[in-house]
Amino acid sequence: MNEKIESLKARFKEKMASVNQKEALEQLRVSFMGKKGEFTALLKDMKDMQEGVRKQFGQLVNCAKMDFERAILEKAREIEAAEIAKKTESEWVDITWPEEPLQGSAHPLSIVRAELEDLFTSLGFDIMDGPEMEEEYFNFNALNIPEDHPARDSQDTFWLKNGKLLRSQTSPVQIRGMLAKKPPIKFVSPGKTYRNEAVDASHEHSFHQCEGLVIDKGITVSHLVFTLQQIISSIFGEEVEIRLRPSFFPFVEPGFELDFKCRICKGKGCSVCKQTGWIEYLGCGMVHPQVLKNCGIDPEIYSGFAFGGGIERLAMMKYGIDDIRHFHGGDLRFLKQF
Ligand code: DAH
Repeated sequence: MNEKIESLKARFKEKMASVNQKEALEQLRVSFMGKKGEFTALLKDMKDMQEGVRKQFGQLVNCAKMDFERAILEKAREIEAAEIAKKTESEWVDITWPEEPLQGSAHPLSIVRAELEDLFTSLGFDIMDGPEMEEEYFNFNALNIPEDHPARDSQDTFWLKNGKLLRSQTSPVQIRGMLAKKPPIKFVSPGKTYRNEAVDASHEHSFHQCEGLVIDKGITVSHLVFTLQQIISSIFGEEVEIRLRPSFFPFVEPGFELDFKCRICKGKGCSVCKQTGWIEYLGCGMVHPQVLKNCGIDPEIYSGFAFGGGIERLAMMKYGIDDIRHFHGGDLRFLKQF
């Protein structure tokens, strides 16, 4: 009798070894444990057995049945775990990973600023930094703009509770530079500036300027014209015509407004240049003798030129951007183009 059980066990073990699917396992279960299965066949023999033998045989059969059930359960778990592992592998989704890898790029203002820094340093200029939270004295008074001067009105200023202000121009860095260095002085200072202005397509409350200052013996307007002509042409990658118009800024004398030939219509006149053929670009001039004196520099010995222009304007012209608000809008469709 025992041999029958042993051979049943052996067959079960052998078949079990080759099962690796739910369906096959179920078939195996039915063929052994089912109503018409091997165990049932085995038990049929019991009725002819003697009392004692039958009892012993019954115990052995029950034991074997329990072992088989446990083995089938374990196999079922194994198969399920393998299926889950397979699914996890094939349907793997990393929800933290963007659909298409996002590649960052430099902001157009950073590109133009970096180009300006490269170009100016190639002409021997230093780069100088100044604070955005500035003293009234540096932003205005030392630049010949005393408290009651109407020039203050043209720069709607953000005043701070601590008595300082958000610089309305990068020109205060001229003063800081002249106080910190001895002539010859030659630097540019690109950076952020602020004005309390209504925002529209060409005005922002926060924008960028690039200031420049050169102080040495014998500096004239020709040096100013040459430098700016070189820089503006390099930014646009071809010779660009510029012109100076007389203008007033309290810290330069004479003072000029610098225009360049409209890049859109090449000077014929269009809506961008308001039909004039020229784009008004920056303020510049020869440093006022009083400003030199304010900084301890003798105007009888030294002269210099200064200029300051918006970086947004330049970037808009270079890339054909029609609205200044795009720069701070954070729209990826805009930013991806650079
Ligand atoms: N700071 C002036 C402004 O924001 C621009 C300017 C004009 C800068 C003349 C200069 C300059 O350095 O010489 O309107």
